[in-house]
Amino acid sequence: MTGIITTGEKRLILVSGRAYPELAAAVGEELTTGVLPTTAYDFANGEIYVRFNESVRGCDAFVIQSHTEPINKWVMEQLIMIDALKRASAKRITVVAPFYPYGRQDKKHLGREPISARLMSDLFKAAGADRLMSVDLHASQAQGFFDGPVDHLWAMPVLVDYVRTRVDLSNVAVVSPDAGRIRVAEKWSQKLGGAPLAFIHKTRDTTRPNVSVANRVVGDVEGRECVLVDDLIDTGGTIAEAVKVLLASGAKNVIVAATHGVLSDPATQRLSECGAREVVVTNTLPIVPAKRFDKLTILSIAPLLARAIREVFDDGSVTSLFDGVA
Ligand code: R5P
Repeated sequence: MTGIITTGEKRLILVSGRAYPELAAAVGEELTTGVLPTTAYDFANGEIYVRFNESVRGCDAFVIQSHTEPINKWVMEQLIMIDALKRASAKRITVVAPFYPYGRQDKKHLGREPISARLMSDLFKAAGADRLMSVDLHASQAQGFFDGPVDHLWAMPVLVDYVRTRVDLSNVAVVSPDAGRIRVAEKWSQKLGGAPLAFIHKTRDTTRPNVSVANRVVGDVEGRECVLVDDLIDTGGTIAEAVKVLLASGAKNVIVAATHGVLSDPATQRLSECGAREVVVTNTLPIVPAKRFDKLTILSIAPLLARAIREVFDDGSVTSLFDGVA
C-alpha cells in the first residue's frame, strides 16, 4: 500500500485568446502540444463567446493572451476563457500574460487613483486562475498582487544573447532611461562583462500621461557604444529623448533593448528618427507591419515561454532558466 493511486498521465493543454494567435502557435510548436482548438467570436453587442472544442477535464491548462489593443477586450476574453476552463473541470489553470495588463498602474501617484495592476490580479483570481506567468513586470513587487504562485520571467537572456553580438564588449556602457531601473541595468552590466553604468535623470509630469522630459546623463558615455535598456516602449518618448541626450553627451552610438514593444503612436516615428542605431524588442505583443521600421529587430519570446510552461507542468524549476537567480 503506497497511498497513491495512479490513474493516468497528467495532460498539458495550451489555449489561446484571439489577440495574438501567432505567438500562441509558436509556443505550442515549441511545446509540441499545439494550441487546443477553440471557438471564439463576438456577439453583435460586443459580448464575447468562447467554447473549447475538446474536453479539458482534469488537464493542466495554460491560457495565453497578449494584452495589446483593444486591451480591455482581450482582458475580458481571457477572463471568460478561465471561467470556461474552471466550469469544465480543468485541474489547474495558469494565466500566461506575457505583457501584464495595466502593469504600470501599480501604485497611487495621486489621491483618488486606482491600483489597476492589483485589480487585474484580483480579476484573474476571481475568474478561477490558480497561477500567473508573465514577463518583465513593470514592478517586480506586483508579483504579490496575485494570490497564488507567480512565475515572473525575464526576457533579459533573450535580449542579452542578441545584443552581445551587436556591440564591441570592450567599449560598451549600459544605460538606464531613469533612476528607477538602475538595478535592471546593473544586471545587464554583469551579463555584458561588467560594462560601466549610466542613467538618464528623467523628470515626468504625473498629471500629463505619456509626457516625459529627459534632462541629463549621469555617468560617462563619451565614445561608448550605449545599450539603453527598458521594460517597455510605449509612445517612445522616454527612449527617443534618452537616445538624443546620450548622443549629445558624446555616445558613439545607441542600441535600445526593451522587452515589450507596445509602440503606441507616435512611437514608430520617434524611434526611427531619434538616432538610435537599432531598437530591439521581443514579441510579447504583436507588432503590426505599419509599426515596423528598418532599425527595429523583434526577437521571439516563444521559446522562453514554452520552457517555463514545461517547467511548471513538470513541477520543475522556472528559476533554473535564469541561472538560478530569478
Ligand atoms: C517608465 O517607467 C517605463 O519603464 C517606460 O520607460 C515608459 O512607460 C515608456 O513610455 P513611453 O514610451 O510612452 O515614454
